[in-house]
Amino acid sequence: MLRGKNIIIGICGGIAAYKTPQLVRLLKKEGANVKVVLTEGGARFVSELALATVSQEPVYRAIFPSSGTTDFTHHISLGEWADALLIAPATANSLGRLAAGLCDDMLAACFLTLRPGKPVLIFPAMDGQMYLSASVQRNIATLAGQGCTIIPPESGELASGQCGLGRMPEPEAILSHLQQSLRSEERHSPLHGRSVLVTAGPTREKIDGVRFISNYSSGKMGFAIARAAAKRGALVTLITGPVHLETPPGVTRIDVESAADMHAAAEEVFSSCNVFIAAAAVADYRPRAPYEGKIKKEDAEMQLALVRNPDILAEFSKQRSPKQLAVGFALETREGVECARQKLEAKQLDLIAFNYFDGKNSGFEVDTNILTLIDRHGETLELPKLTKDEAAEQLLDAIERLTPVNAGNA
Ligand code: C5P
Repeated sequence: MLRGKNIIIGICGGIAAYKTPQLVRLLKKEGANVKVVLTEGGARFVSELALATVSQEPVYRAIFPSSGTTDFTHHISLGEWADALLIAPATANSLGRLAAGLCDDMLAACFLTLRPGKPVLIFPAMDGQMYLSASVQRNIATLAGQGCTIIPPESGELASGQCGLGRMPEPEAILSHLQQSLRSEERHSPLHGRSVLVTAGPTREKIDGVRFISNYSSGKMGFAIARAAAKRGALVTLITGPVHLETPPGVTRIDVESAADMHAAAEEVFSSCNVFIAAAAVADYRPRAPYEGKIKKEDAEMQLALVRNPDILAEFSKQRSPKQLAVGFALETREGVECARQKLEAKQLDLIAFNYFDGKNSGFEVDTNILTLIDRHGETLELPKLTKDEAAEQLLDAIERLTPVNAGNA
């Protein structure tokens, strides 16, 4: 359930903070990617080094970048990265800061920049009298009203030696609250339980036994989409050309080589998928008759006859039912919006994502992309430069907006 999920743990200054390295370990064991944000108070109770070691990530504290850094947006990118924010222990002070909308440390910045709908779980832990005070209760009510899940402290032995209300739940209990919350978030996604077919990567078109025609596609965009869809609870099949990428958790991967292979593999899945997202850079042409062995160099020139490959996306689009969504990509070198619109029309797509090829911020091999999304209603969304994971989330949000809420099987 937590496999591949991005979780931020915000740790504030309460004695219960000493249990958080154990919590980080539990989440890591479940396959989550964990980043820790420590408040100044939190750092008085638990060591940054311990948290960095168990999370295998730097611990985030300062909102302002340290001198010499080139990452000027880490105060917003961390919140955008997260699938859930867990604040344990949450002190009276941090509850007040968050309820007031302040942005005075990394925890507050993460809270403000979290993507809409992502779960925030808050575990207040403090002296019982303090917890029950009118001010803390007002702040808790404000945060609950904004959609945060507040898990009240437990009764038991307190740091003061007394018994009473105020204990933070044990790490195992926190983990199970998080799992429950992510499970219900998945159920909210219109993609939950739907079959999503993604194509990714380049294809290789054989010239002879040792040579082929291909392109620079790394498959990163398609893999990011498959990962994001699986995280939303979709049943994802990923058909990929030759790439050097790990299969995202929970995704069924089919490796292919040529456009014809990809076409054949996709056809098997067409009728049962609810959404087809064609992110592969499929070769438009293949050598008409690949040579069996190795072509010897003989003449000064040689001619290679090419024939058109099947257009996998257009074919799916032609034969699909009205309940199935077809999403394409368009890599353009100029007049992008116009060309992409024409492709959307010609291939009868529900959505097209286009980007220019600039070799630096968008396109093949790089980790970022600058996409423009155009849907079948003509709605256009120009996205800023995002990581491919973030761009994938935006693309899926757009697909969800087009997914009929009560659509059944394909
Ligand atoms: O027409 P163009 O190749 O620019 O269209 C790109 C879109 O069509 C991409 O989504 C790509 O994955 C898909 N496509 C395909 N089969 C092809 C060529 C492109 O599915 N043979």
